[in-house]
Amino acid sequence: MVSRVIPVDLFDLVIFGGTGDLARRKILPGLFRRYCAEQMPQEARIIGAARSDLDAQGYRQMIREAIAEFGGDSAHSDEQLDGFLAQLEYVTIDARGDQGWKELQAMMAGTTRVEAYYFSVAPALFGDIAERLQKWGMADVDARIVVEKPFGRDLATAKALNATLATYFNEDQIYRIDHYLGKETVQNLMAVRFGNMLFEPLWNSQYVDHIQITVAETVGVGGRGEYYDKSGAMRDMVQNHLMQLLCLIAMEPPARFSPDAVRDEKLKVIRALDPVASHHIVRGQYQAEPCNEAANPGYRTAVDNPRSRTESFVALRAEISNWRWAGTPFYLRTGKCLAARASEITVVFKDTPHSIFGEDAGRHRNVLSIRLQPDEGITLGVTIKEPGPGGMRLIDVPLDMSFAEALKEDEVEQVDAYERLIMDVIRGNQTLFMRGDEVEAAWAWTDPIIEGWQARNDVPKPYDFGSDGPTDATELLRREGRAWRPVT
Ligand code: BG6
Repeated sequence: MVSRVIPVDLFDLVIFGGTGDLARRKILPGLFRRYCAEQMPQEARIIGAARSDLDAQGYRQMIREAIAEFGGDSAHSDEQLDGFLAQLEYVTIDARGDQGWKELQAMMAGTTRVEAYYFSVAPALFGDIAERLQKWGMADVDARIVVEKPFGRDLATAKALNATLATYFNEDQIYRIDHYLGKETVQNLMAVRFGNMLFEPLWNSQYVDHIQITVAETVGVGGRGEYYDKSGAMRDMVQNHLMQLLCLIAMEPPARFSPDAVRDEKLKVIRALDPVASHHIVRGQYQAEPCNEAANPGYRTAVDNPRSRTESFVALRAEISNWRWAGTPFYLRTGKCLAARASEITVVFKDTPHSIFGEDAGRHRNVLSIRLQPDEGITLGVTIKEPGPGGMRLIDVPLDMSFAEALKEDEVEQVDAYERLIMDVIRGNQTLFMRGDEVEAAWAWTDPIIEGWQARNDVPKPYDFGSDGPTDATELLRREGRAWRPVT
């Protein structure tokens, strides 16, 4: 295995909500992998802070079980696991009261290490925790806080949340996580765009016909029905993950790969987005799987709300009003219980201006596909002559840049989005985190869409379990002479 791990500075990471789902599924197993990769300093401490009445031993046992369940199949020794667990501490804390804060303060007193506080809790508690960190002397200028999505549920709540956090912390101390920015291929997207001469000259409306961004999931709402039914796909996925992908694909080249240079360019993209007309957006809600309703119930059953009008699918046509992109539509879609789990960005280039081979040879378009998951990779479709006799017939073949093949994936260390982002927090690098103004701008674009649905009492279109979504989504492109890339 090729390891290019650069150890990070000594740190103390306090995880509020340290016994919660995200901590057990993602944060702690991710940190353990960093420990095994010898990136995490031996003296670093991870302090779980939650309501449960546990001691350090009880917490270590809980995390031992979480790593067994969610840690994947990464090979590790018993000594490594014991060594990692020994770096875990625990404090029982009341986010809205006084219990536990004195103990936490004592643990953090006089430390010269990097201090990071991960708010892996409901957003309603962000303000309480920030206030108490200050009251107990832990919100000093070197402290960093990490906040999870959802960051507000509309512009007003996001503004209020930003204002609350700004009372206690400076912007350069706040790390707003969007885990899509930590995905390997998402970063590769920037490398492909800005590390090659090949694509950038063609990266504009003169040469690009349209761009598609698809994040399709096979899973339903699972146990998160209560949260999801109040959010829907627009708030849960489009406002953040899809918006971030859109920014990276559409932004101007930043002067350097530094936090504000990148985030300034992303912000300009969001601010240049046109409002979306109601006929350019389709909402859907999944139905039960026929003959298997018990295992795969429909959306309304899953969220226990028989009259729910929340969407589990969105497809929309966005336009960016700037010199680079005016006239090139961006089609976005995301949904649950679809045919396949596939996240992909597709750049469809325009036809050649004239076919020297005559119409019989067919017209072909170059298509660049950036596959985020699964099977990460980038494929460029090029047109060649169909081999063999029979005249000049053209076909499209992929110029494949599959990372697994090219990089012999087994030999390259795989880093999960959360691992990468947490290490970036410790390094103090905010490039892959959202700035407050970005989040607000994204809500400013999303809010009128949601308000429009509410005003019209819009009912999402039903779609079959395991399908590609409602037929209206297909129609959205078909009426413009285009088609979605199949979800496979
Ligand atoms: C989360 C959403 O942010 O992202 C979930 O809240 C969604 O609803 C998930 O399932 C998708 O993440 P990933 O990494 O599995 O594509």
